[in-house]
Amino acid sequence: MSDRRHENHREDVAGRANVADTPELVAYYDDLARSEAGALWTVANRIEPWEPRSASVPMLWRYADLRGPVLRSLALVEPEKAGRRVIYLANPGRRDVVAAVGWLYSGIQVMNPGEVATSHAHSASALRFIMEGRGAFTVVDGHKMTLGENDFVLTPNGTWHEHGVEADGTTCIWQDGLDIPLVNALEANFFVVHPRMRQEVAHPVDNSTALWGAPALHPATHSWDRPYSPLLKYEWAPTYEALLRRARLDAGSPFDGILMNYVNPLTGGPPMQTIGASMQMLRPGERTRAHRHTGSFVYQVARGSGWSVIGGRRFDWKQRDIFVVPSWAFHEHANASDTEDACLFCFNDLPVMRSLGLWREEALAGNDGHQVVAP
Ligand SMILES: [Fe+2]
Ligand SMILES: [Fe+2]
Repeated sequence: MSDRRHENHREDVAGRANVADTPELVAYYDDLARSEAGALWTVANRIEPWEPRSASVPMLWRYADLRGPVLRSLALVEPEKAGRRVIYLANPGRRDVVAAVGWLYSGIQVMNPGEVATSHAHSASALRFIMEGRGAFTVVDGHKMTLGENDFVLTPNGTWHEHGVEADGTTCIWQDGLDIPLVNALEANFFVVHPRMRQEVAHPVDNSTALWGAPALHPATHSWDRPYSPLLKYEWAPTYEALLRRARLDAGSPFDGILMNYVNPLTGGPPMQTIGASMQMLRPGERTRAHRHTGSFVYQVARGSGWSVIGGRRFDWKQRDIFVVPSWAFHEHANASDTEDACLFCFNDLPVMRSLGLWREEALAGNDGHQVVAP
């Protein structure tokens, strides 16, 4: 056919669309197009692939490359003007939706001592993972939380929140994680700036941790009816301690080593409705087997060094590097040290996959469970 303006994704497989072009059909497709319509059999094999086809590329962003540019932004823009002074991570396959991977956004934010960003609320769920600095804080619906390195804090969908650094602190850098691309894809995103620009701190500082942060103990005097965790901050020290205790028991998962999920202490489910998070430990010398699953995953190296093989490509990482695993890409992790453990923070869209019935997982068969690494 000379006229190839229409699609035609033929597959010579029983049950799949396989219609050859004819002059009559091409004329028919043209008529349909004039009515803003089309024949499903011309696109069916594209829009219903045999298995997920992620547009995202496996990626690693080295902190050594990004830290300098992130710090440069301090002199270039004020948080009052920028709203949030953030450098975002642009996956080459997802630039159109400003995603780091799949439907997840991530960025690196920096603030100087004494700076506070404007209080706001949005439909996207958000989290922060503290990379460096002293004196960072977040306020969520009147709950102020002090933050240190490797602490993980929630700013759930719909909550008033702002971030800042105390005047006697140091320049602070953290990773932001949000489901902005997902909420935009669902055409459900709202954004509101707080009418007074700052909210009042309405509770004792770190009261969320004091009330809900003890293992298997809930306060008798308080209840909680929100759809997200009442524990808004997950501190590093008890998280690492939990990993160490768990590691003494056995080898954990063949695909992840010692992996602990951050949960809502009231439900045991994910801390927010759309975003899950975990911290995992690769013990000295550990190398996991490859598997793949639906869902998009953003990792930050909280501690140690090693490498991951993602979609057949090897990515070497060290502390503070960020890497992503696209949906249905095989991946495996390795600790490069024989003496030190390595810890990986991760946030993901698993709650979405699970609640929509889309979760699927598969181990790599053959080759002793390891991918062939591209040269
Ligand atoms: Fe926000
Ligand atoms: Fe995995």
